[in-house]
Amino acid sequence: MTSVFAPGRVNLIGEHTDYTGGLVLPMALDSGITITGQHNDTGRLVLSSSQFDEPLDVALPIGGDVTTLQPVWGRYLASAAQQVGLARGFEGEIESTLPAGGTGLSSSSALACAALLLFGGDADRTELAKTARSIEFAATGVNSGLMDQLSVLNGVAGHALRIDCGSLDIAPVPLPDDVEVLVFHSGQPRMLADSEYNERRATCEAIEALIGPLREATLDQVSALDDPTMVKRGRHVVRENARVDAMIEAFTSGDLSLAGEILEDGHRSLSEDYEVSTPIVDAQQQRVAAMPGIYGARLTGGGFGGSLVALAEPGTTLEIDEWWMRARPGQGATLSD
Ligand code: GLA
Repeated sequence: MTSVFAPGRVNLIGEHTDYTGGLVLPMALDSGITITGQHNDTGRLVLSSSQFDEPLDVALPIGGDVTTLQPVWGRYLASAAQQVGLARGFEGEIESTLPAGGTGLSSSSALACAALLLFGGDADRTELAKTARSIEFAATGVNSGLMDQLSVLNGVAGHALRIDCGSLDIAPVPLPDDVEVLVFHSGQPRMLADSEYNERRATCEAIEALIGPLREATLDQVSALDDPTMVKRGRHVVRENARVDAMIEAFTSGDLSLAGEILEDGHRSLSEDYEVSTPIVDAQQQRVAAMPGIYGARLTGGGFGGSLVALAEPGTTLEIDEWWMRARPGQGATLSD
């Protein structure tokens, strides 16, 4: 029997920066996806899921296009099996402690990373992250960065991760003892509409064709762009990169009010400049930000619905109708035989 656990992730700050080689500050969660099973000689990949009725049952080795395969969740598994050339056979079960559906907590990255580890064994985690990203791109058409997969694979308990998405260097950042990370749903299922996400990325690439890498760009440079949409998008990225290191400084100095302000600035920027929030998400952000014990709150992940994250005094309770949890920074994916 072999088993793998891969956590979800929540990003504290550094949103829509990873695909331009920018800075991010996510943490792996202590909830995630577990796959347990056994290699066999049946020549089939058979997996059932506690969250979905229809099992995956396909012949190995998997050739050709997996994007039409049913059930949809099985595409990540089949693609991982294809990547590592799984041929003998495997039967197992998938359990998830992440909330189901549209939360934006990277359950699909957790699934792709778990499957790669399980079928192919442990390897260089940066390379695994890149393969998991390409699996997800093939399955969804969303041309994402590497933040989610790197967080899922490299999480450190008690720490967020400062990831430089240019060099792919990862530095664990301890969370202050006297703060709690709350993750809560906006009330709007996340729809990481391929077109919107990919369109934002394409705009960043168009900006870079004009002024060079956004990672090195200044506010003056992006403000001087002719296209007003490019000015807004570029301004978000330049300021968001700066907010990552500002947040780390706020953690280091224990200035949690400042950490809260950085979250609020980040949300405003996602909403007004990057335009990946929605009226429902904005209303939820404002409601929670005004609650006692909350230092600040913002949309987390790709946007267009999904989850928000808040920094709060320990013991703070959210009076909302939607799902919420106290998120503890957990360990990255682990494989055990
Ligand atoms: C999604 C993507 C990530 C990242 C975020 C936005 O979660 O998968 O790569 O771009 O959106 O920060």
